[in-house]
Amino acid sequence: RTVLLLNGPNLNLLGTRDPAQYGTTTLAEVEARVTALGGELGVDVVCAQSNTEGILVDRLHAARDWVGVVMNPGAYAHYGIALRDAIDAIEAPVVEVHISNVYAREAFRHTSVTAPVTAGYVAGCGVFGYELALRAVLDRAAERRG
Ligand code: DQA
Repeated sequence: RTVLLLNGPNLNLLGTRDPAQYGTTTLAEVEARVTALGGELGVDVVCAQSNTEGILVDRLHAARDWVGVVMNPGAYAHYGIALRDAIDAIEAPVVEVHISNVYAREAFRHTSVTAPVTAGYVAGCGVFGYELALRAVLDRAAERRG
């Protein structure tokens, strides 16, 4: 039983990138926290990050029949149609995370082309949102199994 934690462009810079928006926790720390929570909840967590949309698409395909995916698509959320189609194409439930409250920011961040095909959406909770999203993925997966 495996969950994919997938982070998109620029999230490798977490910790130093715009701390007012994204805090000072590094991506490695986020991955460690989500992996630890996964252990408590009985799932393995595989972590991946890419700055390239096609690689994110490949990662989603590889996880198509896993328990689910926690994904921060970064800016691709706002215009990444190939990413959206990949989420739509796979069986595994995908919960989208944004660290910042995108609705309190520039207008171009208010649109998500990916959100309509996700199993859930978390924004504005800081990096804690990743833990919320993991819990939501497991709840959605349990619902599907019935
Ligand atoms: C982000 C929000 C996006 O608008 C931005 O492009 C990011 C990070 C977030 O986690 O708040 O890269 O996804």
